[in-house]
Amino acid sequence: MKGLIISGGKGTRLYPLTYTRAKQLIPVANKPVLYRVIEALKDAGIEEIGVVVGHTAAEIQSALGDGSNWGVRFTFIQQKQPEGLAQTVQISRDFLGDDPFVMFLGDNVLQGGITGLVHDFRRNEANAQLVLKEVSNPSAFGVVALDERGQVQRLVEKPADPPSNLALVGIYLFDATIHAAVNGLRPSARGEYEITDAIQQLIDGGGDVRAHIHPGWWIDTGKPLDLLEANSLVLDELLPTIAESAIIQRSQLDSRVTVEAGAVIEDCVIRGPSIIGREATLRHCYVGPFTSIYHDVRVEHCEIERSIILEHSQLENLPQRLADSLIGRYAHLQPSGEMPRALKMNLGDFSTIWVGATR
Ligand code: G1P
Repeated sequence: MKGLIISGGKGTRLYPLTYTRAKQLIPVANKPVLYRVIEALKDAGIEEIGVVVGHTAAEIQSALGDGSNWGVRFTFIQQKQPEGLAQTVQISRDFLGDDPFVMFLGDNVLQGGITGLVHDFRRNEANAQLVLKEVSNPSAFGVVALDERGQVQRLVEKPADPPSNLALVGIYLFDATIHAAVNGLRPSARGEYEITDAIQQLIDGGGDVRAHIHPGWWIDTGKPLDLLEANSLVLDELLPTIAESAIIQRSQLDSRVTVEAGAVIEDCVIRGPSIIGREATLRHCYVGPFTSIYHDVRVEHCEIERSIILEHSQLENLPQRLADSLIGRYAHLQPSGEMPRALKMNLGDFSTIWVGATR
């Protein structure tokens, strides 16, 4: 069984962070989502992994290397134009050969991993195994209609009028019959070769397509609020550890706090679940639950809660608690000591800030 990770795309919904970084490399609980995908494949016994890359190819390749860090082997497959998930299967044909494979979107996080799914797929010898999740906004996803016996009947991509509330999770298991299906497709209304259309062809041709409704959480980290939610869910499951080289003085940390190597924490109160990255410095801070502070961040005289602060950022003397926020790399948040007393900003394109509360 092989793995195929899809790691292209522009990540426009995560602007401005994705102007300067591939969306799959944005960390959740201080680890890039893409690394979590690789770990899930490796845990399921999959070591031959194709990685489909787009315009962020160089960045993804340098972050992943040859796979030896994880005990896997990567083959990078260049996608010239993003033309849909079915196209990624098509251009990966040489790598995949006739082997069964798991296609895993590189920005998806699934509670519990995929080991059970891979095991069931091998045992059932189905042509395809889908993963479904009940959602409140099915129009944002591929949607599946099941018949009364729970068999897959119909798939529609981002329907205005969804036939069910079952979204397609970005993890699909296929055998070699998918190749004929992807080769016979026409572009959809949005101009893409849709994997949902290819799976529909398998069904129409009498293929054995099964669906598993995932009971746990699933997050597609495509949007900022999803990232905060994913961060909270992953932190909630993290086994807390305190690195030996961390320096912690005159501080209160509860039992669900993880502190990575070389972090310095002085005169702080830190409530978990939360994680403080390597070489981060925190002085006179309150850090509340569901916060991830990545490596080399400096925070002094601030209160932070349910937020993600990326590497090398600095936060000082904030007049109010920072909550529900996503701060990029090398950002600097500080009060202004100079007149006029005003909000002063230097914001990147497509940034959003929320100032104070509405009355
Ligand atoms: C893709 C698929 C969609 C699926 C989703 C899961 O959508 O086309 O069927 O539900 O991934 O993350 P996209 O993220 O490309 O909009």
